[in-house]
Amino acid sequence: MCGIVAYAGPKSVHSVLLVGLTRLEYRGYDSAGIATIDKGELEVRKEKGKIKELEDLLKLYPIEGPAGIGHTRWATHGQPSKGNAHPHTDCKNRMALVHNGIIENHHILRNELTAKGHLFHTDTDTEVIPHLIEEEWKKTGDLKEAIRTSVVRLEGRYSFCLVHDEFPDTVFFARDGSPLVFGQGAGETFLASDILAVIPQAKEQFIIENGQWGWINKDGMHLFDADGTEVTFETTKITMQVSELDKGGYEHFMLKEIYEQPDMLRRIIERRMDEKGKIRFDEMEMSNDFFGRVGRILVTSAGTSWHAGMVGKIYLERFARVATEVDISSEFRYRNPIAEGDTLVMAISQSGETADTLAGVHEAKAKFCRVLSLVNRTESTIAHESDAHIDLMAGPEIGVASTKAYTAQIMHLLFFSLMMSGVRWLTEKEDREEMFQEIRMIPAKIEAILEKADEIKEMAKQFKTTKDFVFLGRHFNHPTALEGALKLKEVSYIHASGYAGGEFKHGPIALITDEVPVVCLAPKTEIYEKMVSNIEEVRSRKGKILSIVTEGDETVPAMSDFCFTIPNCPDYLTPILSVIPLQLLAYYVALERGCEPDQPRNLAKSVTVE
Ligand code: F6R
Repeated sequence: MCGIVAYAGPKSVHSVLLVGLTRLEYRGYDSAGIATIDKGELEVRKEKGKIKELEDLLKLYPIEGPAGIGHTRWATHGQPSKGNAHPHTDCKNRMALVHNGIIENHHILRNELTAKGHLFHTDTDTEVIPHLIEEEWKKTGDLKEAIRTSVVRLEGRYSFCLVHDEFPDTVFFARDGSPLVFGQGAGETFLASDILAVIPQAKEQFIIENGQWGWINKDGMHLFDADGTEVTFETTKITMQVSELDKGGYEHFMLKEIYEQPDMLRRIIERRMDEKGKIRFDEMEMSNDFFGRVGRILVTSAGTSWHAGMVGKIYLERFARVATEVDISSEFRYRNPIAEGDTLVMAISQSGETADTLAGVHEAKAKFCRVLSLVNRTESTIAHESDAHIDLMAGPEIGVASTKAYTAQIMHLLFFSLMMSGVRWLTEKEDREEMFQEIRMIPAKIEAILEKADEIKEMAKQFKTTKDFVFLGRHFNHPTALEGALKLKEVSYIHASGYAGGEFKHGPIALITDEVPVVCLAPKTEIYEKMVSNIEEVRSRKGKILSIVTEGDETVPAMSDFCFTIPNCPDYLTPILSVIPLQLLAYYVALERGCEPDQPRNLAKSVTVE
């Protein structure tokens, strides 16, 4: 939520910042702004709406300078407006600041600063920071010392960047809680919420740690800890490729990411399963000895990652025979979970920055539990703060609605469960070999589904004005039903709910009319017959049945208004296949309704506020 970027170097500062902000737009698109010190004067340009609006403004009123800062906003405090857009300035208009996070004590600080004569012009929490620094600066006349003493007063989570007219070629920064990474290029430097904003110019990176602050100029970075001692740091080479960040010929990132799933899963399978059928998690620093002793697993995650966690619970209990609970992160941390020494807490997060999930990690550590995170961004805060992490290997996911990260999470949870079952001697060699054979066939089976995408595209046309959707699934595909409903809500704004098939008759069936499409997940599994009964129940109330079934099924297609077939596979792999048509459905219905699937309203990809 909110993206910040800063640059110091010889290039056109506004161009570098605009490219960076466009890459960070997945973090919010309510407004955007930049600031530089242009010929000795602080200059700020900001606009409501997407980066394009800011770009148009900059064509009319360009600004340059040896350094600059930029921001793309997901509104928390104060509505999306030009006035509330970052950067924010001090009273004398000498400094400008961009911020990601939330200043929880902003009311207290605002009252205190107002009493001292500071004038506030916005509804944001952020505006207190430049005023606070201005106030501290008056005391010593030393801006660096003023930044150090100001950050001590801030409560909440932040990373910020600041330019000041006394130091035109310098960007100051501080981090506590929200991500910030330093990028080193050739004769130029960068700061960003996410390194993907500044590649390929940035060649090396260093993740700023909580409590650190400092400044950059074109030659490098000076970094300090909370008490003002300069710290040394070592950068690491950036491996991400810029080609991973474009749409690759697809109309939207969401579609590209849906189509990336077969190759992504091939990569995952190749890295995680060796020729002898052994499962490898090279990056995970936790011993087999420990996994042998784990008595209980608590999974904490949000949104799509929570749905993946639900599938993971079934895997962990079936294959590794470990009692597993799955919690929504924002609930986990407040329910005072019972956790003993043999409890493993698993945090699942695509971004690795979700504030609720991070808070769950802190809660687990406070209870002395070991924390293993499954993250798609290994440099993220959640990975950093966990005892060990697993790389989800999905590659950058830019579309705000998560697609490929979901199947990467499920596949990794399956491998993790099989690894645990191996450590505990719970599966026979022959069974494992058979499973590995089946897993290897999954990418090609997804390709076969994607080849029939036009069937879904065509079917989506009839839902242009539909108001409600229901998704039903059982066992492995109950989470698929929840995920299908979430995808549709997010990108097409149609109200949709997912239910466990058996639970539907206990109330929600009252929703059914001939105007409500019901997506029924009925692949061939051991509870197939039960699902058929649920479909009968809906059909007899004149619900419109859209079914997802296994090839060769004749029963459910005969009961359905529309039917999509997926290749045959064992029940534990059905959630990976059956979600693909639902991702396509959400995407094509969104297009039919004129919605922008990559940037749905009110959403941001990385939810860094609680
Ligand atoms: C849905 C979606 C969100 C995220 C959720 C958790 O398409 O993207 O529901 O899954 O915000 O995000 P991560 O996985 O980054 O912790």
